[in-house]
Amino acid sequence: MSNSIRHLTSIKDLTDEEFKILVDRAQHYKTIFKNGASDDFQKNHLKLLGRTVALIFTKRSTRTRISTEGAATFFGAQPMFLGKEDIQLGVNESFYDTTKVVSSMVSCIFARVNSHEDIQALCKDSSVPIINSLCDTYHPLQAICDMLTIKEKFATHLNDSSKPNLKITWIGDANNVINDMALACLKLGMDVAIATPNGIEMDANIMNEANKIASQNGTKIEATHDSKSASKGANILVTDTFVSMGEEFAKEAKLKQFQGFQINKELADLADPEFKFMHCLPRHHEEVTDDVFYGKHSIVFDEAENRLYAAMAAIDVFVINKGNFNNLK
Ligand code: CP
Ligand code: NVA
Repeated sequence: MSNSIRHLTSIKDLTDEEFKILVDRAQHYKTIFKNGASDDFQKNHLKLLGRTVALIFTKRSTRTRISTEGAATFFGAQPMFLGKEDIQLGVNESFYDTTKVVSSMVSCIFARVNSHEDIQALCKDSSVPIINSLCDTYHPLQAICDMLTIKEKFATHLNDSSKPNLKITWIGDANNVINDMALACLKLGMDVAIATPNGIEMDANIMNEANKIASQNGTKIEATHDSKSASKGANILVTDTFVSMGEEFAKEAKLKQFQGFQINKELADLADPEFKFMHCLPRHHEEVTDDVFYGKHSIVFDEAENRLYAAMAAIDVFVINKGNFNNLK
């Protein structure tokens, strides 16, 4: 990246300590949002009054759009949703020109694009912080939200050092959500088991990074094609759509490839009896049955709500505090 601006492209950009601060900020803003003012609220509230927050989204979104617009408004900014039907990008104007122009007028850009290279290009040419709001390789806002949710639901376990590491089991594809989630879990001291179908492997660079974090933190990461062995004793079962946005053309083949990977009673019975079920949403029936998705172990709607506080934390840290974590310790 050519400039000194701190962007959020992936959880891998952050030290363990920085990531913990980010999740703590999300928790902090949840408390403020639910319970009212605090000293920090008085200090930071409306810090972006009179400014704008751009959302350059070339893909659909419910949670990321609503949470980002809500978070921008919380700090006094006007969010601007710039969908692919709204601006010249991709039809009449290049990525480079769009980045130069949009970043000259806004406080930051939340970007939902196709490739990670597009996120890197934005970071190179933007004069304001870029917050990756999902690309094909990473989804850091989801990981912040998911760690906040796990901290809330497993507070007793996480605060008891005599307990073994929490085990998070992912059953699904190997792309954006799990890539950042795995790094996030390992940074916070959890063990990760990832089960993908034959023919789908985790990215080697991400596994290298994950193994590095795991060995530093005394945690474990394993990748397998056996959904049953991965589910054994899991404290958390998590999945995502089997057909990500942009892959609709391959739907039939992917659904075939994912046979046996639906989270259902059979897999759930292998997990810890107190397990929780998570999903970034949107959800489809092929990856999880209704009894699990709507059942007593599911925390998917608490998880979705926490997207708001993850977006607040991202704006707080990367826009208001310009990526300077020292102010936030
Ligand atoms: N989880 C998530 O990113 O949802 P949206 O695609 O609706 O933003
Ligand atoms: N893997 C999914 C995540 C959606 C939030 C996708 O890229 O479509």
